[in-house]
Amino acid sequence: MKVVMVGSGYVGLVSGACFAELGHSVVCVDKDTSKISDLLKGRTPIFEPGLGEMIDRNIAADRLSFSVSIAEAALGTDAFFIAVGTPPRPGDGEADLAYVRAAAAEIGACAPPRTVVVTKSTVPVGTGDMVESLVRAAHAHQDVEVVSNPEFLREGSAIRDFMRPDRIVIGTDSFWAGSVMEELYQPLTVQGATLLRTSRRTAEAIKYATNAFLATKISFINEMADFCEATGASIEEVAKGMGLDRRIGEAFLKAGPGFGGSCFPKDSMALLATAHSHSVPLRLVESTIAVNEARKRAVGRRILNAMGGSVHARKVAVLGLTFKPNTDDVRESPALPIISSLQSSGAKVVAYDPEGMRRARAYLRDVAYAADAYECVEDADCAVLVTEWDEFLGLDFRRIASAMRQRVFIDLRNAVDVPRLTAAGFAVHRIGHAPTPNPPTGSTAGPGSREPRIVSANGTPQVGLEIAREAFGGAALRAAKDY
Ligand code: UDX
Repeated sequence: MKVVMVGSGYVGLVSGACFAELGHSVVCVDKDTSKISDLLKGRTPIFEPGLGEMIDRNIAADRLSFSVSIAEAALGTDAFFIAVGTPPRPGDGEADLAYVRAAAAEIGACAPPRTVVVTKSTVPVGTGDMVESLVRAAHAHQDVEVVSNPEFLREGSAIRDFMRPDRIVIGTDSFWAGSVMEELYQPLTVQGATLLRTSRRTAEAIKYATNAFLATKISFINEMADFCEATGASIEEVAKGMGLDRRIGEAFLKAGPGFGGSCFPKDSMALLATAHSHSVPLRLVESTIAVNEARKRAVGRRILNAMGGSVHARKVAVLGLTFKPNTDDVRESPALPIISSLQSSGAKVVAYDPEGMRRARAYLRDVAYAADAYECVEDADCAVLVTEWDEFLGLDFRRIASAMRQRVFIDLRNAVDVPRLTAAGFAVHRIGHAPTPNPPTGSTAGPGSREPRIVSANGTPQVGLEIAREAFGGAALRAAKDY
């Protein structure tokens, strides 16, 4: 079948390449001429594991091509996909549908008869009706059907998520449009993928409800992490015990500095805006957002606490800038507010990220960038792991320790085994573990000192709330009140 994918970003490019991989003929269109010229030269504008190879393979097989014009690609198209951005509108966070409208009008002007127009972008419930009226108004034939087919792709594992989906959601009341979509996805359903047929509005709602629920799981476990810090429990063990309950499941229960990315923050705000326009309160979603925003602000204070209350004139090494590993995307990354908070407290920040530094430069000022983690930590007073890249888990921590002025390691993802850090002489600060009673000094374990200082433990520490407040969890407890 022939597919035109309008929008060649994280969603459109992956979806287009995967449809080509499934045997369809795909044209990825984008208004950004530099992006299209990069693609035509074999350069992939985003970092997504496996995407470059898949694009090359399908260009060579003549199943995938690129264009700046929808009309140029329209002849013989079975389905036009709208995969353009729906950025949050400043102020209320409502999804800005300008790109969706433009794509719908342009498709309507050139779509052949009996065409399916598919909204793949995350759009507020009811947007399909608007797209349908735009397409039909611009189109001689009234037999164009608009279908909702939301994506559930995670950056860093987007190809896997497309090729082995938990489910494919198709929202349409049109029998023939539904049949076109079933034919498109037949290479996946024949391998056992579940295809859920529903109404267009329900499909649009499923996307928002899914993302909001996943975000709620994260904010919930992050609050439980603060609770563990105050009560001497272990957040990893709590998450494990919860996750063994089949009704909960273990996924999305990793405590950290808060969720980021181009979806959870944007989609939860857009869901709230839609709910507000229908006078439906979504208090849980409101709290999910509030908890997350407060947490990102609170992390900077945690680092200050770990450094004895001040980072003035100190050098802080930040490991990880992207909102998660295996992507180059720094949108809404916790690293951004963490770094600005450290800088406001007088710290000098050096950062390293395997893929995200180029994009981070647009968001950060006065940050030094290192060529690798070892260079990043040179003469640093503390190291903060913000993104759990595999590369960081394999570091030589003795070498890291000997390069640093002070051996304070703050692991915001609980990603590194504590014994490896303590054996290297680090004072270790983690998320969701009560600190053990230690003098809350930042100047611990200088070079040469072998005395490790664990301010959080896996054991059953005899800590009072005061020690937790003072040594490390304090900011978290105070932030809990901010929520
Ligand atoms: C998300 C949804 O998972 C995906 O289905 C949707 O299509 C797009 O939005 P993405 O934003 O790419 O995908 O990444 P995801 O893996 O969901 O992580 C989002 C954020 O949550 C990241 O900042 C991540 O660090 C954080 N996270 C995730 C946690 O803090 N804890 C977890 O257990 C999982």
